[in-house]
Amino acid sequence: MFEYAPAPESRDIVDIRPSYGLFINGEWVDPLGEGRDKTVNPASEEVLAEVAVAGEADVDRAVQAARKAFAVWSAMPGSERAKYIFRIARIIQERARELAVLESLDNGKPIRESRDVDLPLVAAHFFYYAGWADKLSYAGFGPSPQPLGVAGQVIPWNFPLLMLAWKIAPALACGNTVVLKPAETTPLTALAFAEICRQADLPPGVVNIVTGAGETGAALVAHPDVDKVAFTGSTEVGRLIARSVAGSRKKLTLELGGKAANIVFEDAALDQAVEGIVNGIFFNQGHVCCAGSRLLVQESVAEELLDALKRRLSTLRLGDPLDKNTDIGAINSAAQLAKIRELSEAGEAEGAERWSPACPIPDKGFWFPPTIFTGVAQSHRIAREEIFGPVLSVLTFRTPAEAVEKANNTPYGLSAGVWTEKGSLMLWMASRLRAGVVWSNTFNKFDPTSPFGGYKESGYGREGGRHGLEAYLAV
Ligand code: NAI
Ligand code: MG
Repeated sequence: MFEYAPAPESRDIVDIRPSYGLFINGEWVDPLGEGRDKTVNPASEEVLAEVAVAGEADVDRAVQAARKAFAVWSAMPGSERAKYIFRIARIIQERARELAVLESLDNGKPIRESRDVDLPLVAAHFFYYAGWADKLSYAGFGPSPQPLGVAGQVIPWNFPLLMLAWKIAPALACGNTVVLKPAETTPLTALAFAEICRQADLPPGVVNIVTGAGETGAALVAHPDVDKVAFTGSTEVGRLIARSVAGSRKKLTLELGGKAANIVFEDAALDQAVEGIVNGIFFNQGHVCCAGSRLLVQESVAEELLDALKRRLSTLRLGDPLDKNTDIGAINSAAQLAKIRELSEAGEAEGAERWSPACPIPDKGFWFPPTIFTGVAQSHRIAREEIFGPVLSVLTFRTPAEAVEKANNTPYGLSAGVWTEKGSLMLWMASRLRAGVVWSNTFNKFDPTSPFGGYKESGYGREGGRHGLEAYLAV
């Protein structure tokens, strides 16, 4: 193995304040209550900043600000709204390096990913939906589709700024106003985005950012003056939210967990498939709802593929997220690390075989080595439950029909991957897999023009593309 010299990205480019308030009506305000929380760098456990915890009364202030701004924003011609959204997109591009460093500090993801994947996609989302703002009449939702009103949006910690973009860009393009709650472990890029809204001269109240944990999120989705709720996160919380808005006029989209099958046929280009498997489950430490967490490999090539995969994993570099050579960063929180450990122990206890490459773990921070389980049965917890970490469960199959059966044998249905050189087999599989996205000979590919969303317990509604507009329009 090659030795690499450290190549850290400088963190001087970010300016983190010691303490943040709430962003309501275009201003920074203190929360009405005493609540304060801290966000830490998961790679070092260093406290990065103190952040306000919004209570019910704060959420109410934010929703009222959004309601007032809705009159202005929804009445503006789409071509005018577009100018603001394009301006936001350009500022994000200009500040991309700073935002990437901030994301890696707060979340623990490698700078290579925040710089080359998250930030370009964030900007692309704003550019894409800015383009729709004056073309809504041609989107296929009637001659004069109307916005819904105030959107309450709750997002997770795995792609903090990207999930913000997925939620805010279409909402604004359609003429809605927004109250967004970032995840409690990763609020900093959303707070930086609040500054970007000011920099873009966005009218006050069009975007409001309230920080806090589950209680703040619950207060937001339950607020009677919210017209639309959008949530990405765990299936468990998704259920609570569905219950909370049931019987109200609120429109709801849920993007929940996954347990995707990444299916490799014997005729696939195996070296390419190995890269796709690595990208599928070790990208972002496996904190990916559509991660390819179940590898289904055709029995005839299982041994060859696993040998190649293990060789490849031995070259992955785990460590400092700000180092440009790092492949695997930190696990986002102690709680998530505990969950990954618990499920991995269950995998061993149930009889699967665990393997990790030799991989030095830093003393401080939250870390988990890339891990493969072989000899996994469909009944094992590691084959059924979302681990949301760098852990791959390997199963085998003999025929395409068996692959379909096993792939669909999950309560989830967010994504799947198929590796084969045969176009006919690809299409045959794609039409039978119960998953919102099916990738072929690639994995974890995202594009703002392409809709994304789940079947079954992975949620409902689509984000991205023309389809993503529907969630924010009275159709
Ligand atoms: P979570 O679902 O608790 O958190 C997601 C967001 O929901 C956060 O902003 C949180 O503050 C908020 N929230 C929590 N309780 C709420 C409530 N009652 N009402 C409204 N909002 C609420 O997810 P958590 O605990 O961080 O992770 C647990 C598991 O969930 C992970 O191990 C993973 O399996 C899954 N997950 C899936 C994600 C996805 O992208 N589909 C993202 C994050 C987690
Ligand atoms: Mg943090």
